Amino acid sequence: MRILAVIGTRPEAIKMLPLIIELKKHPSFDVFVCSTGQHTDMLNGVFEYFNIEPDYRFCAMRKEQSLSELTIRLLRYFDEILEDANPDTVLVHGDTTSAFCASLSAFYKGIKIAHVEAGLRTFNKSSPFPEEFNRVAIDTVADICLAPTEEAKCNLYKEGKSVVFTTGNTVIDSLNYTLDRGYSSPVLDDANGRKIVLLTMHRRENLGDRMRSALLGVRDILLLRDDLFCIFPCHPNPAVREVAEDCFADIKNIKICEPLSIYDFHNILSRSLAVLTDSGGIQEEASFLGVPVFLLRDTTERKEGEQNGNIALLGTDGRAVRDGFLSTVSDTEKLSKMSKPSLVFGNGDACEKIAKILLSSK
Ligand code: UD1
Ligand code: UDP
Repeated sequence: MRILAVIGTRPEAIKMLPLIIELKKHPSFDVFVCSTGQHTDMLNGVFEYFNIEPDYRFCAMRKEQSLSELTIRLLRYFDEILEDANPDTVLVHGDTTSAFCASLSAFYKGIKIAHVEAGLRTFNKSSPFPEEFNRVAIDTVADICLAPTEEAKCNLYKEGKSVVFTTGNTVIDSLNYTLDRGYSSPVLDDANGRKIVLLTMHRRENLGDRMRSALLGVRDILLLRDDLFCIFPCHPNPAVREVAEDCFADIKNIKICEPLSIYDFHNILSRSLAVLTDSGGIQEEASFLGVPVFLLRDTTERKEGEQNGNIALLGTDGRAVRDGFLSTVSDTEKLSKMSKPSLVFGNGDACEKIAKILLSSK
């Protein structure tokens, strides 16, 4: 079976490369990897970490391009590349523009589509934007839906999909490659004994006033609690950088840095008191590691983590962020409930399960 695996952004690489390593172990698969370059440095670093060289490499990223421009560029690209690669199956992940365009192109050409991390839903097309649309569209054309959890599987059944499997999330498999008991780094040294709080924020629906408000809430937290040290690896989107630098200009207990490598990020996350984020994947990793997640969003498609007590939805209003975070972190009982490691997103065998499913679907 010829499989073309499509990867466009950092989180797709983190969640797909362990799977590609697994698929390459099986002689019945001919695996080709396509990097769309929707992201640049953040993506290439993950390929290097997993020691995989893409067979097809495109460079779709343009500074501050619109979603339409990105979509047009990617659809043109896939139109050509799918002819050249001639796969039996296109393997896509999640909900990015790269995954959406690869799926649509494959659908037009009658090529089978397998969707990893299928079935996540907030049921709100504006949040996350445009990812909720992308995931629904991809699942509409997917032939094999690989749902990470039972909840995702139920969503797909309700939408009338029939070929659905529950596999766990491959991001947990990824942690097997990165976690290091002996980890040390100058970033950790900067904390100088203070408790680490990780911060990330990048979602399109949060850009602008919502991001400013949430970050001002974090600023208040840091002013009130000098026993905390915040590490903020900043997404390269200029719309994030500007607000970040402005909000924290005079704050001493924060380090704003370039995106961290996956090795650094996972190891620092596992040593953190908590994470404040609007990310998707970090909700899963942190829940597995027992690091409380304070979610800077109004919705989550990872409801299992919220129901299990690992994730608290704070939204983006600065006061709600400050009060929600501080009331939990100052309460030992509440904090320890949120700090229980959880297997709701998987236990590290998702890649093996997916390989078996694809083998039996030949
Ligand atoms: C994309 C995904 C989102 C995912 C995120 C992971 C879509 C619609 N969204 O959002 O689901 O959570 O990746 O980080 O696919 N930029 C750079 N260098 C980079 C990457 C981005 O400079 O390596 C800047 C560019 O100005 C670019 C902007 O950030 O135009 C936005 O990047 P884009 O890939 O369109 O969206 P993300 O916000 O990263
Ligand atoms: N991540 C990373 N370096 C960073 C920040 C995040 O390697 O500086 C990893 C993180 O471990 C997770 C993924 O990037 O696996 C999440 O990416 P992001 O939040 O950009 O996208 P999302 O998951 O929201 O789609």
